[in-house]
Amino acid sequence: MKIQPVRGTHDLFGDQLLKYKKIQDIVNKYAKLYDFNEIVTPIFESTDLFKKPLGEHSDVVLKEMYTFIDRNESSLTLRPEHTTPMLRASISNNFLEKLPQKLYGIGPVFRRERPQKGRYRQFNQINFEILGTQDAMADVDIILLADSILKNLCPNKKINLHINSLGDKNTLKVFKSALTNYFSKYINEISEESKNKIKTNPIRILDSKNLKDIEINKSAPKIAEFYSDFAKNLFEEVKELLSEVSVDFIIDPQLVRGLDYYCHTVFEFKTDELGSQDTLIGGGRYDGLIKLLGGSDVPGVGWAGGIERIIMLMQNLSIKEKKIYLIVIDEKSKKYGLKIATELRNNNINVYSDYKYNLKKSLSKANQLNFQKAIIIGEDEVRNNTYIIKNLNKNTQEIFPLSKINKEIV
Ligand code: HAM
Repeated sequence: MKIQPVRGTHDLFGDQLLKYKKIQDIVNKYAKLYDFNEIVTPIFESTDLFKKPLGEHSDVVLKEMYTFIDRNESSLTLRPEHTTPMLRASISNNFLEKLPQKLYGIGPVFRRERPQKGRYRQFNQINFEILGTQDAMADVDIILLADSILKNLCPNKKINLHINSLGDKNTLKVFKSALTNYFSKYINEISEESKNKIKTNPIRILDSKNLKDIEINKSAPKIAEFYSDFAKNLFEEVKELLSEVSVDFIIDPQLVRGLDYYCHTVFEFKTDELGSQDTLIGGGRYDGLIKLLGGSDVPGVGWAGGIERIIMLMQNLSIKEKKIYLIVIDEKSKKYGLKIATELRNNNINVYSDYKYNLKKSLSKANQLNFQKAIIIGEDEVRNNTYIIKNLNKNTQEIFPLSKINKEIV
């Protein structure tokens, strides 16, 4: 059997890689417009960095982390997200002395999930964070940034913004215990998976896709009943500002997010076009997380987007680079061929060399690859310091002196 990549991993090349690079370009462009600084953090970190912040009972920590023991017995983990490493880096490098900090990163993350369409074990995220403010304008700024990037990369696609507020940390505590009480009454009816979450992580039952759970969820306590005045006002202001800047949103009380560190605003950009892995971007506020990691009590808000999922939604890109097929008829003309190729590349022209030294075979390959033009050289051209340009569509050709090589001619 042919050697294959590890399950849940994939090679990026061709059209997909072009899209990946376009995403990088657009992300860099908007990062500049919104004044974010890029940071590249290590692929692996101490396991402790992730355990508590993401939630000891969260799926990511319980089942999905790639954790290994290093030779000195310390436990290391391949990063399952960018947020905690970025916050760790902000503490390690004293970024928090100057607030707000606006950081972004692009790169691979690792989660041992069950692979399916749009779900991988190594995938790439783009990630933006604003540290140091609880102002609703920051929540809206970062949502606007996500909205602009998606609109730019996937124009004409229907993408919905879902938002919710999880209230402050105290709201969540009281809400969770109300949920535990409520779901305990349905212990015999609820799905097996949700049963295990009643005591440890009842909030995650709310986004269960099991039909029976969905029915039970309908009458479950609603988080809005537990909001403090501060939480209520912050959420109202976020909604008001979003409407002010004409960003449509759906208020989604079932939206709870999969990681433990969230409070107040949470949001997801979803599409109907990708099947069950329908979330392109997810994020929210995580006040208290930086303190939990050993930093000062600095609030934060951010999001991450799955590059592979965005690629699936992007239209094919047409490459408009000028390309030329270089045909060297015989081996003796190699040196001259290299000279011409270099001259063309110095003029920013993309040159394809086939190393065939056979006019017929080369022409047939050039046609097969849909080239419009070829440069042909052989002994005559070497002797006269010339080259032939052949128009492969019209089947016409012309001879030019070497001194006349530029973009216009080719
Ligand atoms: P997340 O919702 O776990 O959030 O992941 C963000 C995005 O990564 C998802 O919306 C999805 O597009 C993509 N994604 C997640 N898992 C996979 C997978 N197995 N295969 C392919 N794509 C996937 C976070 O990671 C938070 N750190 C976001 C955040 C930043 N919150 C605040 N700041």
